[in-house]
Amino acid sequence: MFDQSIKFMNTEPQIVPRIVIRSIAGGLFLMAFFTMMWTGIAQAGLLGQDHRIVLIVFAACSMLFIVSGIRLFISSAKFPKFTTDADRVQGKKMVRSFGIIFGIEGLAIPMTSVMLVLLGHDQYILPAIALIVGLHFYPMAKIFRRRIDYYIATWTCLVALIAISMMLRNSQPQTFVLAFLGIGVAVATTTYGLYMLYVGYGLLKKFRHKLGAPGTGALLLVLLNGMAQASSAQTPGAKPGSAQTHPAHLHVPAPPRSTISRKVDSLLRLMTLEEKIGQLNQLSGTWAQTGPITGDDNKLKEVREGKLGSMLNINGVAHTREIQQMAMQSRLRIPLLFGQDVIHGYRTTFPIPLAEAASWDLEAIGQSARIAATEAAAGGIHWIFAPMVDIARDPRWGRIMEGAGEDPYLGSAIARARVKGFQGKGLGNTDAVMACVKHFAAYGAAIGGRDYNSVDMSDRTLWEIYLPPFKAAVEAGAATFMNSFNDLNGIPASASSYLQNEILKGKWKFQGFVVSDWGSIGEMINHGYVKNSYEAALAAIAAGNDMDMESRSYIGNLARLVKEGKLSVERINESVRKILAKKFEMGLFDDPFRYSNEQREQQVLNDPEHRRIARDVARKSIVLLKNENNILPLSKDIKKIAVIGPLARSKMQMLGFWSTEWPDSNYIVSPLEGLTHKLGSSAEITYAEGCGIEDSSRSGFAAAIIAAEHADIVIMTVGERRDMTGEAKSRADLHLPGVQEQLIQAVSGTGKPVVVMISAGRPLIFNWTADHVAAILYTWWLGDEAGNAMADVLTGDYDPGAKLPVSFPRSEGQIPIYYAHLNTGRPALNDSDRFYRSAYTDLSLYPRYAFGYGLSYTSFHYSDLRLSNTRMKADGTITVSLTLTNTGKYAGEEVVQLYLRDEVASLVRPVKELKDFFKIKLSPGESRAVQFTIDKEKLSFYDRHLQWVAEPGTFDLMIGSASDDIRLQRKFELVK
Ligand code: NOJ
Repeated sequence: MFDQSIKFMNTEPQIVPRIVIRSIAGGLFLMAFFTMMWTGIAQAGLLGQDHRIVLIVFAACSMLFIVSGIRLFISSAKFPKFTTDADRVQGKKMVRSFGIIFGIEGLAIPMTSVMLVLLGHDQYILPAIALIVGLHFYPMAKIFRRRIDYYIATWTCLVALIAISMMLRNSQPQTFVLAFLGIGVAVATTTYGLYMLYVGYGLLKKFRHKLGAPGTGALLLVLLNGMAQASSAQTPGAKPGSAQTHPAHLHVPAPPRSTISRKVDSLLRLMTLEEKIGQLNQLSGTWAQTGPITGDDNKLKEVREGKLGSMLNINGVAHTREIQQMAMQSRLRIPLLFGQDVIHGYRTTFPIPLAEAASWDLEAIGQSARIAATEAAAGGIHWIFAPMVDIARDPRWGRIMEGAGEDPYLGSAIARARVKGFQGKGLGNTDAVMACVKHFAAYGAAIGGRDYNSVDMSDRTLWEIYLPPFKAAVEAGAATFMNSFNDLNGIPASASSYLQNEILKGKWKFQGFVVSDWGSIGEMINHGYVKNSYEAALAAIAAGNDMDMESRSYIGNLARLVKEGKLSVERINESVRKILAKKFEMGLFDDPFRYSNEQREQQVLNDPEHRRIARDVARKSIVLLKNENNILPLSKDIKKIAVIGPLARSKMQMLGFWSTEWPDSNYIVSPLEGLTHKLGSSAEITYAEGCGIEDSSRSGFAAAIIAAEHADIVIMTVGERRDMTGEAKSRADLHLPGVQEQLIQAVSGTGKPVVVMISAGRPLIFNWTADHVAAILYTWWLGDEAGNAMADVLTGDYDPGAKLPVSFPRSEGQIPIYYAHLNTGRPALNDSDRFYRSAYTDLSLYPRYAFGYGLSYTSFHYSDLRLSNTRMKADGTITVSLTLTNTGKYAGEEVVQLYLRDEVASLVRPVKELKDFFKIKLSPGESRAVQFTIDKEKLSFYDRHLQWVAEPGTFDLMIGSASDDIRLQRKFELVK
């Protein structure tokens, strides 16, 4: 304890104010310093603040700190007279010691921090500061002669040293180390601060009259320092939160790239080559099998040994946490990334992507992606393999269901909406997941629509049709890409340097990483592109593929390739860097379990709001293909309804392919349930299956006919089983499977009005139905809320406004069929114009339903087309305006579509290209002005040198309700 027997004498009055002011200022500086320092550290280390801010604060505060220390020291020399020499010596010593201690501390803290940042070891800042603070307790203990100071000093130094040694061994600040440290430092500084307050206050009170100015100043300093320490020790964020303490969703800005790359570099320096290669290796768990089984290795052992950077098909908080805990047993404790195919919802299943695309509602699509991401993230998943942005013009290809259809403009808009939806406010937020844009590239153009088949296309088609949605996704900030199974013009996409190095990482400056598709690197042996997995690994990594999904080519060969001098470590570092950067961005190094919160999982996965939105998106996706005599919406007078068809009672089928299966299926609403909920009290509903989905037997027809005969109207639900369209589900016959169309014919034979609802993942062919039944709704696979959405549309509670995102063929023989075709030299004017024309002699030229087509219960009138100018310079714009009027009886939505045709160009241009659209909701009788802007971008295309150019000349402007329903038309010119 301070020697209270010392007697101070009064000071000369003139120096009192000066010293007191200096001392108060010094104390204030100290307070600011400590507060800023802890806040800065907490934010830099744990919340991702830029270190530069901390350094500036350090520099500023430390200057003041040092100055105040020096001043104290100097003032001690002029220390006024004490009553006795011993007192004077003691007093001088005390104030001088304070000065020295603060001065040294003030220098040591910022200098150490700056040095650590410059060396790229900024993870050691916190323990280093703890050590310095700890050491400063020893002289303090000497001055005050209190044992507690020694205890505090020893405890703080010990904590700091343990932390430093653990971090040196493990190379990174793991959560518990930081927590230990944070709490240790906080406890130490709080105790110290309170103690200072106590000592300072006690001395001040007792000796105020005897202390004189310097003593008062010094004590004030002690007091203020104590206050600063006590308050700053509680700075929020100084303690890393445990997974369980995170709020429902943590919204934090992503740390700047420079900070992350420094962290990545310092971690990289500690990694062995094997550990680096481990980061490039991804294997599947057993929860779902989304590809052929490729090996039976001990994956969990590999996780513990740091030989895996990511796993897919592990989901749920409990399971992901269990595996992450194993990753935490690896030497460097690098967290795993958990990836999953979340294609149209996780717990809440939304309509399949192709159906959602039919909504042309970017907000709804983004919202659906947002919810899918929120739920997946709550279920422990960091990374979802979506969106699939492959343009598909061939409905034989089963994966058409996963994309946005045939058009690059619509596809790009939807790609952007989905990426933004998945990644939310940015990586680092616990409700954001990394999007994985796939499959790069041209997978949708598999020859003959056969999955995994080769693709052969011109660069022009690649750039003009297939690449735009990928480019849009990069621009929207997509975190990762997946390459594709197919070979493109002879080179497997996984080994295509043109696609990955040149285009994606080069021209488009994509900063994320590329994962292969399932086993696609190894499959290059089957392609005949490489001899073995050794060559496959080299070909893939050289081409820019960063992570190997399931082929084990990287883990098995990269080290040997390096040893043999065929591959540089720098190339491996490049991929590892990108993967680690994402892990840092997602905050997984701060807390590998931040996606592992059971409470959040429960709360998010059971959020009733998600179902409400799923219902809304589902009804927005239903396309009204036919409505003769306005038999829909169902009249209120209808008293008896027969619901017939193999899908009427089905639940699981409503989910479609690529949906997450949960043990219970009660929550899925079947068509029959949806109708019964809505109309069960006002109408009598009978049900007959009629036939199974693929039945060849007509034995159920009789019962179906009886049910129809007793009803006022028949609602039929037909279509595909959910595993008939999806990956590896190419089909050559696209007609309604089994005897379903015959069932429709038989039921129609009763003369009762028939409404057919078709549930499928692709455009099907149903010509008899299209020609004969009164009303058809294309209901795709709508997800959990299918039945409710169908009932909403059937009853008119919701007016359908969806438009087809893909052309529906009349026959498989027309495929590929798409609206944006070229005109050819001998275009047929119509189906009778066949004499030496580009036509079929036995088949219509036209699709059954065209791109952009879809009816509504109401009708829309397009009028007053005006162009601000009919001539436009390349740097100018034209404003196109028109009036849209709802001329029907229902409130409804119309998608106003703008198409352009470049009449003459250096490369022939399509007869029509979608260039813009608006979805507009109008009440009956309401009119709205609609305005588009034409700029150079809309007129540009890739010329023969793949330059993006707009060539002067005449353009056709077409505005309509569908690609084959143009309502307003005008020409304008692009002039030089
Ligand atoms: C293969 C599919 O092509 C891809 O889309 C999917 O993400 C992976 N399997 C993982 O399941």
